[in-house]
Amino acid sequence: MKTTGIKKINTVVYLCFAIIGMIAVNGCKESKLIAEKNGMTLWGENCQRCHFAPASNAFSAEEWKTVGLHMQSRALLTNKERDKIIDFLQN
Ligand code: HEC
Repeated sequence: MKTTGIKKINTVVYLCFAIIGMIAVNGCKESKLIAEKNGMTLWGENCQRCHFAPASNAFSAEEWKTVGLHMQSRALLTNKERDKIIDFLQN
């Protein structure tokens, strides 16, 4: 009687790990989707939330670096996202 009780608990524990594992894998997939976004997509999605998204020819390459740093803190972007957007706007 006692051993079957333990076996049942073990099954529940395994199931929990399986569910946690599935959630973890799903979470990684989502961040991969974000990582695959290019500069133009990130620019379109983030830079017009507060104002018109400025065109790439509105500032020089050097100015975009400064704007990127400033707007990174406003838009809460990762360094990678910021670099992609700056790269898109500079070229
Ligand atoms: C959370 C809101 C917000 C987001 C998101 C945002 N900005 Fe801004 N942006 C501002 C505000 C507010 C200003 C006015 C200057 C200041 O006080 O920061 C500004 C000013 C600017 C300016 C200067 C405009 C000028 O004519 O001098 C540029 C260029 C700019 N943003 C580019 C961007 C880019 C590129 C992105 C995307 C990475 C972006 N912004 C995302 C809020 C935002």
